[in-house]
Amino acid sequence: MNKVVLAYSGGLDTSVAVAWLREQYGVEVVTLTVDVGGGSLREGVERRAMSAGASKAYVVDARERFVTDFVWPHLQASALYQGVYPLATALARPLIAQLLVEVAQKEGADAVAHGSTGKGNDQVRFDVAVHALDPALEVVAPLRVGMGLSRDQEIDYAIARGIEIPITKASPYSIDVNLWGRSCETGVLEDPWVTPPADAYEWTVDPSAAPPAVEVVILFEGGVPVGLDGERLGPVELVDRLQALAGAHGVGRIDHVEDRLVGIKSREIYETPAATVLHKAHRALEGLTLTKDTLRFNRLVADELAQLTYDGLWFSALHRDLRGYAASSQRVVSGEVRMRLDHGNAIVTGRRSPLSLYDKNLATYDEGDAFDHASAVGFIEIFGLPLRVEAARHGAVGRHHGAAWTWTEPLLASLPMTIAEPEGAGAAG
Ligand code: ARG
Repeated sequence: MNKVVLAYSGGLDTSVAVAWLREQYGVEVVTLTVDVGGGSLREGVERRAMSAGASKAYVVDARERFVTDFVWPHLQASALYQGVYPLATALARPLIAQLLVEVAQKEGADAVAHGSTGKGNDQVRFDVAVHALDPALEVVAPLRVGMGLSRDQEIDYAIARGIEIPITKASPYSIDVNLWGRSCETGVLEDPWVTPPADAYEWTVDPSAAPPAVEVVILFEGGVPVGLDGERLGPVELVDRLQALAGAHGVGRIDHVEDRLVGIKSREIYETPAATVLHKAHRALEGLTLTKDTLRFNRLVADELAQLTYDGLWFSALHRDLRGYAASSQRVVSGEVRMRLDHGNAIVTGRRSPLSLYDKNLATYDEGDAFDHASAVGFIEIFGLPLRVEAARHGAVGRHHGAAWTWTEPLLASLPMTIAEPEGAGAAG
């Protein structure tokens, strides 16, 4: 190993890792800082990398590509890991991995490095993605191979070597942020019964302390949000604005005991105000514009895509093909959704689309009903045919068959009941 490209957040861990890699392996270290939004440590990051001994420091603003190429496809697909986690951390990993590989190739490096620990998902995502893109590159994770220092030890290590220490307050949690969400774990959160302390949250106010409810109208085109309250916005600005607005109303707190790829259950606190609002709004618009068969099938795709992304299999053919299906299914998901942000809740209050499949004349119980009620009889006759045949041959579930009831107990005889009859009824002879 001669030269390694390190994914460098600019924080204490990775600053120490620059020096540690040089000393441990005698290698040249190039740092790569990828800005994926959410208020990362871009300020002064080159200076800190140099102070730690990096030979070069790349800083890449990937915010827009992160949203358009990574976040939007998962919003389009409604992909949420275990039905709840909008995958913020997981989505940024393949992007960072790809940039690591590209910088390594440009720099003629023979290895890349990242600051993940040995028991999380992120190490898997980095390693697997890098090896898919360039099998010749070695991957080193200092925290996995002996750099394990406590925060105080890291500070001493940095001071002894003149490494500039980033000015961040010591957090009791392990935190990862990007534009799509904030992930918070460890510390007191490791007891899944413990109420998350107020300091676990940074992007959301306590819902009970939120200001009066507001409404926001989200404009979608092809399953992708393109505007708020009538104003067209670029992807980064749209997410940032909605993040601030929804967070101020306490929307987007998620408390999840999740199943890691490495087999551990772990308790995670997520703050995803924009993702929470957009996922709900998007599903509401899909309900208006897609057929019931497409909606049903999309749920399978959503779960599969979420799992593959969570598991770090972004660069697999299946992932690519599912993304392709999801994007294609979104051709008609255009229109507006009105949401109320109300003390921690994001509530759909209306949706409309020029491509809507909703037909008031078919749905109405008022005048103008175009639905053919008489045809319902024939439809039900045919629709119910297989069940009638089965019931006749096998005895339906719940049917009184000969002397016994099949598969169930009679209801009427076992439930409290009263029977009223008109006064004097039955008395007449
Ligand atoms: N459990 C989440 C995931 O695997 C988030 C991990 C975030 N990392 C952290 N240091 N908090 O995607």
